[in-house]
Amino acid sequence: MSSSDDIDNYGLATRGVLAGRRAEWTGTPGHPGAVVNPPVWRASTHLYPDMAALRAHPANEDGRFYYGRRGSPTQWALSEALTQLEGGAAGTVLYPSGVSAIAGVLLTVLRPGDVLLMTDNAYEPSRVMGRGLLKDLGIETRWFDPTDLAAFEAACCERTRCVLLESPGSLTMEVQDVPALAAAAKARGIVSVLDNTWASPLGFSGLKHGVDIVTMSLTKHVSGHSDCMMGSASAGAEWYRKLRLRSQGLGLVVSPDDASLMLRGLRTMKHRLEAETASALAIARWLEGRPEVARVLCPMLPGSPGHELWARDFTGGCGLFSFVLKGGTSAARDALIDALDLFGIGYSWGGFESLATPVDPASIRTASAWPLKGMDAQDCFGVRLSIGLEDTADLIADLERGLAAWAGAST
Ligand SMILES: Cc1ncc(COP(=O)(O)O)c(C=O)c1O
Repeated sequence: MSSSDDIDNYGLATRGVLAGRRAEWTGTPGHPGAVVNPPVWRASTHLYPDMAALRAHPANEDGRFYYGRRGSPTQWALSEALTQLEGGAAGTVLYPSGVSAIAGVLLTVLRPGDVLLMTDNAYEPSRVMGRGLLKDLGIETRWFDPTDLAAFEAACCERTRCVLLESPGSLTMEVQDVPALAAAAKARGIVSVLDNTWASPLGFSGLKHGVDIVTMSLTKHVSGHSDCMMGSASAGAEWYRKLRLRSQGLGLVVSPDDASLMLRGLRTMKHRLEAETASALAIARWLEGRPEVARVLCPMLPGSPGHELWARDFTGGCGLFSFVLKGGTSAARDALIDALDLFGIGYSWGGFESLATPVDPASIRTASAWPLKGMDAQDCFGVRLSIGLEDTADLIADLERGLAAWAGAST
């Protein structure tokens, strides 16, 4: 949907409250804006009053009833709300998951024979897409060191059509110099795509930093409640039009019920992210002082890798960060995670509940090393924490139990 200027002057929390709530989507004729939230319009079939109206065939535009796959006011409201939060966006396409958003974008930009450059810290299913789906279509994927601009420039070739960035990387947390990478790509006619799930538009404005297309897994912060999956891609007018048509060509649609849940999550996202960020920072500081911990990988923490870029470019953080244990074994790390009561063990993040998972990127990275530069070779057992909305002191006490179990299992 097109962005409306009238809420652009408000702060991000206010925009999060107002976005997408058009009077015609939250009321009926004669009662515009009568309810707070856009109702759930469950509809595959859209009806025409007569044959003349059917033959007049509405144009393929947002906000025109046509058929269920083109959405209804519930989905239109969510996509408009995301557009209104994403500075510089002309529109937002919704996808059934974050992975399908990445696939939808890459299938819009790339053609057989093209080369895709992918940051080496990309989310693993993005890498799998490069090795599988894209390879099958005759598209080659090459990986580059996320923090090395010269390596990116050296990897570019005449066939490079697109670069996929992810900052911070959702396991190892390296922050990329996105403005420099986007500018270097633009100078070569390469389309830049950023997986901005970690920061969301509240913490990092991808398009305003020069990126062409920003994707997000809404499953994480936007839902915020671990009960719904969806993805999005936002862009300026030209790419938005192409993304929308390719998504229609692929027959993609999200359910109005899920869109309604996402709209609900969006209203409180800024406050959830702020609370999680504050708690994550306190926990990261505490971990930094622990003898069992070799390195904390938390961009919000001064002294952590990528902090300078984060402080320069970002307006907010989130609850997701990692830490690396001082030596030890994989079994000792399992003992740590198993000893945690408040942290669930699960692959997602961004929900109200805290989660812990092991970080083992060594076998999947191809262009850069794990352990990261500056870390000792034996310090390779990482743990990723997604900090939720529990009391920080309770989470610290839980981690203290976990570290005691790690020490016991390490001797
Ligand atoms: C950085 C990142 N991007 C994309 C995704 C994919 O999102 P989804 O699970 O909604 O497909 C994830 C999921 O964990 C992620 O961490």
